[in-house]
Amino acid sequence: MGRPAARSATVRGGWLTPGLIDCHTHLVYAGNRAREFEQRLAGASYEDIAREGGGIQATVRATRAASEEQLLHESEPRLKRLLDEGVTTVEIKSGYGLDTADELKLLRVARRLGAANAVDVQTTLLAAHAVPPEYAGRAADYVSLVCEEIVPAAARERLADAVDAFCERIGFSPDHTRRVFSAARAAGLRVKLHADQLSDSGGAALAAEFGALSADHLEHASDAGIAAMASAHTVAVLLPGAFYCLRETKLPPVAVLRKNGVATAIATDCNPGTSPVTSLLLMLNMACTLFRLTPEEALAGVTRHAAQALGLTDRGLLEAGARADLVLWDIDEPVELAYAVGANPLAGIVRGGRVVRWA
Ligand code: NIG
Ligand code: FE
Repeated sequence: MGRPAARSATVRGGWLTPGLIDCHTHLVYAGNRAREFEQRLAGASYEDIAREGGGIQATVRATRAASEEQLLHESEPRLKRLLDEGVTTVEIKSGYGLDTADELKLLRVARRLGAANAVDVQTTLLAAHAVPPEYAGRAADYVSLVCEEIVPAAARERLADAVDAFCERIGFSPDHTRRVFSAARAAGLRVKLHADQLSDSGGAALAAEFGALSADHLEHASDAGIAAMASAHTVAVLLPGAFYCLRETKLPPVAVLRKNGVATAIATDCNPGTSPVTSLLLMLNMACTLFRLTPEEALAGVTRHAAQALGLTDRGLLEAGARADLVLWDIDEPVELAYAVGANPLAGIVRGGRVVRWA
């Protein structure tokens, strides 16, 4: 049970930060893809595996076969590992159902995870993640199903807070993405985009064109795309876990993001394929080590800018009037959060003004 922070807790030494926000995850899924990890070590690429029916499709098969209870049971330990490191708000995407019933099943599990744990869950409908097998070769027809049935159903049942798409040569074309975004707009939902991860598909500019909350990945984004994001106040979400696991060599354009003043967030991208990661603190380290963010930029990336990537204006900052989602850390300097690998200096969590954890 929580208790009022001010009365019961004496803050010893250490540092307080806002509750951490993981603004991009796919943590609700069944099964795992450890075998694909071995295939990639033996030389296969992520795209090769996807084209052969593995990848996202393998997780779709396992997730469709799982009941809502099973999915909840398999996903909750991943969520709990994030919470153990001070996450108080998490975004969870669908995208492993790819039909109306299974996409809604995933979103319901995400909502239930939020209700059962000390965390706010923001849900994102990612029905445009891959073309399901029953629509093989008919991507345009699947996009029609997404636009005419899945998006309206998720909005009607209030199961989605936003809509996302995977705009990529192994995902959806810019034209298909535009159709999905138009359907989202008609349903009154904000959009986000998996943009320019494996190739420059013009994703950053497309996200900006629709006033997206965020464009995510961005390794291959063009300078013009980043400039368009700046004008639209679209947040850049960098995902060092996927970069690392895919042994990507093309760095996201951090200098261009800085030059254009684009707010930059960091997230785990927790998913069974490209980022089986449940440590946001490790992502802080990797954002600095791999992408050369400063520790201060990285911390803003999992607090203030992550809130912005979710369209949340009530959190992510320590200021009067903000939600009292706070984490107490047993550290001497904030840089330690990004510096150490495998250390978890968490000493306490306050959520909505109530102590939910105290070491
Ligand atoms: O964010 N790129 C598409 N979606 C995920 C990967 C999903 C998967 O491989 O299961 C990503 O990297
Ligand atoms: Fe992702």
